[in-house]
Amino acid sequence: MPSLEPLPPMQPLVPPSLKPVRTLAVTGGKGGVGKTNVSANLAIALTELGQRTMLLDADLGLANIDVLLGLSPRHTLADLVAGRCELEDVILEGPGGVLVVPAASGRRHMAELHPAEHAGLVNVFNDLQRELDMLVIDTAAGITDSVLTFCQAAQDAVVVVCDEPASITDAYALIKVLARERGVDRVQVVANMVRSPQEGRALYDKLSRVCERFIGDVSLNYLGAVPQCDWLRMAVQRQQPVVRAYPGSPSARALAEIARRTARWQAPMAPRGHVEFFVDRMLRQGAPA
Ligand SMILES: Nc1ncnc2c1ncn2[C@@H]1O[C@H](COP(=O)(O)OP(=O)(O)O)[C@@H](O)[C@H]1O
Ligand SMILES: [Mg+2]
Repeated sequence: MPSLEPLPPMQPLVPPSLKPVRTLAVTGGKGGVGKTNVSANLAIALTELGQRTMLLDADLGLANIDVLLGLSPRHTLADLVAGRCELEDVILEGPGGVLVVPAASGRRHMAELHPAEHAGLVNVFNDLQRELDMLVIDTAAGITDSVLTFCQAAQDAVVVVCDEPASITDAYALIKVLARERGVDRVQVVANMVRSPQEGRALYDKLSRVCERFIGDVSLNYLGAVPQCDWLRMAVQRQQPVVRAYPGSPSARALAEIARRTARWQAPMAPRGHVEFFVDRMLRQGAPA
């Protein structure tokens, strides 16, 4: 005799209406300018401000966010690309509760994915059933398809520069390709390893002058400077983010200030008609439930 107990309420069949996510890609052209430190510390500082933040290691061939944060991932994006696991299996919790999506280091095929596979990686995030406020993407050096696609797929590109001729010319080259080939029309700039706030500002002015003169249709915005700081180096040695290891240090304070500024941005939340992170959440926004 079947029980006549009322059935438990059914789970809704449609996914919950998840809010749009702010997305920003940290890039810079040149290696060693501080992209990984800026992205990791920015993501952690944003988490500390109460923003649910995910940090994606998109330096697919030479991934090192896990090393910087002292994490030991069980799965990485390489397993996801090989079909061995789902995105949910790759996500782990890092310092302060930041969600980390690690990639693998030394897997050459990951550094040589096809453009369609880069687009596929961006689209995988559409299926994520988690409430998030922010996604911070750490990109590789260079102006390869992976860098360009991840920057284009984010709402904002944050270019990290330091006061070296090669850093400035590489940042300029990257901004030019992003503008001309990928239609990116605004770029945020962080000056890193500066010896004074004036040096950071002068560096930004120099970069924005050449961009205005030779590229034209791109606007730059100065997000701030991070000083050259021995505490940051020590934190790297200890495999900890400086904003947590030495929160009172000059670099940690500067990174926290950049996070506060970033948290205040108003994002453009309309789809732009190309491969984009969390585009489904943007499309659903305002649609009838
Ligand atoms: N603000 C800073 N002060 C001192 N050293 C820094 C700073 N930013 C970066 N570095 C040094 O530069 C190295 C490379 O930084 P990283 O973030 O890995 O660069 P990228 O990701 O651009 O290759 C770090 O390990 C650290 O030693
Ligand atoms: Mg890096």
